[in-house]
Amino acid sequence: MCGITACIADGDVVDELLTGLANLEYRGYDSSGIAIDGGADGLSVLKRSGEISTLRATVEEEPPSGGIGIGHTRWSTHGPPTDENAHPHIDCTGSVSVVHNGIIENHEELRTELSERGHRFSSDTDTEVIPHLVEEGLADGLDPDEAFRWAIGRLEGGFAVVMLVDGEETLYATRRGSPLVLGLDGDRRFLASDVPSFLEYTDRVVHLEDGDVVAVGPTGYAVTDADGERVTREPSTVDWRPEDAERDGYEHYMLKEINEQPNALDRTVSGRIGNDGSVSLSSFPPGTFADVRDVQFVACGTSYHAAMYAREHLIEMGVPAYTFRAGEYATAPAPADEDTLVVAVTQSGETADTLQSVRHARDAGARTLAVTNVVGSTASRECDDALFIRAGPEIGVAATKTFSSQVAALSLLGERLVEDVTGEPSPDRAERGAALRRLPADVQRVLEDSPVAKLADEYRGRDAYFFIGRGVGHPVALEGALKFKEITYEHAEGFGSAELKHGPLALVTEDTPVVAVFDGRHGEKALANVEEVRARGAPVIAVAGEGSRKVREIADEFLPVPDTHPDATGVLANVQLQLVSYHVADLLGRAIDKPRNLAKSVTVE
Ligand code: F6R
Repeated sequence: MCGITACIADGDVVDELLTGLANLEYRGYDSSGIAIDGGADGLSVLKRSGEISTLRATVEEEPPSGGIGIGHTRWSTHGPPTDENAHPHIDCTGSVSVVHNGIIENHEELRTELSERGHRFSSDTDTEVIPHLVEEGLADGLDPDEAFRWAIGRLEGGFAVVMLVDGEETLYATRRGSPLVLGLDGDRRFLASDVPSFLEYTDRVVHLEDGDVVAVGPTGYAVTDADGERVTREPSTVDWRPEDAERDGYEHYMLKEINEQPNALDRTVSGRIGNDGSVSLSSFPPGTFADVRDVQFVACGTSYHAAMYAREHLIEMGVPAYTFRAGEYATAPAPADEDTLVVAVTQSGETADTLQSVRHARDAGARTLAVTNVVGSTASRECDDALFIRAGPEIGVAATKTFSSQVAALSLLGERLVEDVTGEPSPDRAERGAALRRLPADVQRVLEDSPVAKLADEYRGRDAYFFIGRGVGHPVALEGALKFKEITYEHAEGFGSAELKHGPLALVTEDTPVVAVFDGRHGEKALANVEEVRARGAPVIAVAGEGSRKVREIADEFLPVPDTHPDATGVLANVQLQLVSYHVADLLGRAIDKPRNLAKSVTVE
């Protein structure tokens, strides 16, 4: 949700800015721009609606130059994607330029106040109040650092901001609720919303905290708190490699990330599970959760489906567990106290609704734990504990490998919880453990043998698509439908199979393919639900263990997965569904990695 990049170096930084923007395009792609200074022409601002390639073409026509610059790729919140609304935004004098991610809640009052003081606005954005506020501060005699602090002190909401002032050799930046990291590469320094922005230049990162103000100059950087007191933020090295964030010959990041799942899962489980299925999580030794009475999962979208999946195991083993959509929990939190463990499942660790839910839980005295992919993310720092899923960077907007790794990591966490809360391991712990250890190889088999690419053509262009399932097949059905609508733009809905006859069945016709997910546990009932839709003429595409003879017989199409423990079957079935969505979207010519209207990381509520 909007990507910020900035760079200061000895030489020209145009390449670094354009590379940074291209690497962040998954955060927003309806307009982009850069401001650059330190060259012969003074501060130049170039911005365009459309994809970053449009900005790149403009830059090639009128090449700016300079050793200090800021850039932005936008996902619109206030005002449509036009050249005027693209960032950076500047003040009336043309000397203060600002890029921003997040929402300024009091922008209307500020705009009115500034307009009354004679400021002219040239965009519809909330962002534009910032350069005008800084302009006021400068006019009052403050220096740029003071004017920046004063301006951000007037803002309400959640945001990350970077400012470049004409003639100044320093970038000023702050974060409050939106991500911002500093990258260090000798004399070249970066600021960005996310590490992949500068990963090909450096893996040395300083994670800034909310409220930090950082001044990045030619000889170093200084971090201070909101009162101007120096604070120490040590650099660390991220273990992501630049090639992890590249397309590596695949047509789309999504396809690359689908195919990376065996490796990602291997990283998720490796060293964390013994031959007898016992779990070893270094931060969570046995007994860690002995005081937990109930578990509340908070998450959005795909991560919510992973949480639903995790809940199945806990409730089956007698651990009270509930799932909440973070957008709802953030406004109406469930009762929680010090005996509640609130687990925030969030790939990015930056989703605003999920973070807000964590804050409510913390205020209620609950213990909080983030299950996330991003070391140093806000969720990992704000929660009491963090479990990292180790999936590697995910660039495609549609989450794929992170879902699989979330489910695997939650499965490990689930076993620790079952043992600590009930005092006994799951009775089938060894089988579950063996299935988890085999999961990377089983996913590899699905990828190698999947018949989906050949089927996609036959099923495209139908009225609607339904996805149904029971047990862990239910979250997988919801996830399959979410992925399908997200990247094909076709109408798709997911249901628990039992719900079908309470309404959705009215929509089932010969032109509504039904994708049925079998988890290997609810055989007869799940078959009966499939018969219900077959009786209405709907074609049935079944995903089930390869040995499921009855399912194979009644389905129009059969997508097999290796026979395994039911808790792992859903992950395998989901890989088939990822391929269904991918191949149909590809045939329809959709923007698979950057579906319309969506952004990878949703940092506004
Ligand atoms: C769908 C998708 C989204 C995210 C959701 C939560 O493919 O990616 O539904 O799952 O926005 O994001 P995180 O996991 O970063 O909190």
